[in-house]
Amino acid sequence: MASDWYGDLDETIGAVLLDAQTIRKRVRELGAEISRDYRGRNPHLIAILKGACIFFSDLIRAIDLGLSTDFISVGSYGASTESSGEVRFLKDLDESIEGKDVLVVEDILDTGLTLHYLLQNLESRSPRSLRVVALLNKPARRKIEVSAHYVGFEVPDRFVVGYGLDYNQRYRNLPDICTLNVGGGKT
Ligand code: IMP
Ligand code: MG
Repeated sequence: MASDWYGDLDETIGAVLLDAQTIRKRVRELGAEISRDYRGRNPHLIAILKGACIFFSDLIRAIDLGLSTDFISVGSYGASTESSGEVRFLKDLDESIEGKDVLVVEDILDTGLTLHYLLQNLESRSPRSLRVVALLNKPARRKIEVSAHYVGFEVPDRFVVGYGLDYNQRYRNLPDICTLNVGGGKT
């Protein structure tokens, strides 16, 4: 499949963990669930750049309600496959969330450090409600107690790419979610 996309890089794409069709079906289910839970309201969906972008653009079209959107970018100082716990804002929200029913859309809940920091910050801005939708959950790596109200899939303790998730900014355009073998050379 896409394993030769980048020539002689050290990493190679491994197994398909979740194929595009499986993802599409689950995203529709999440959209339906959110539409039911928020009926009569207009949720404010916040995408965490950049990993959640593709999930976000599919999810909002699966929600049958009037809604508004905003984007936020947070980064950690860690290496590319490891989160350091130090989080900084690269781009803040454009609009106030005071009094809004906020739904934060995240690609993957890993150590939980990014989300924990972000939720504390957002809570202090007085939203009416605050919930999280995470496409993937990797519970084996959690370092801090934090959970998402809506989770697409639980995944094993492997580094994954595709459907928005990257390794050094690559592989976001893979339609499937695949494991990545790093440093193993080409086979
Ligand atoms: P956390 O702070 O450790 O929960 O992870 C925060 C961010 O690390 C996620 O939003 C992703 O951008 C990135 N991340 C964690 N695990 C993976 C992975 O398996 N593949 C790609 N990105 C990941
Ligand atoms: Mg990332």
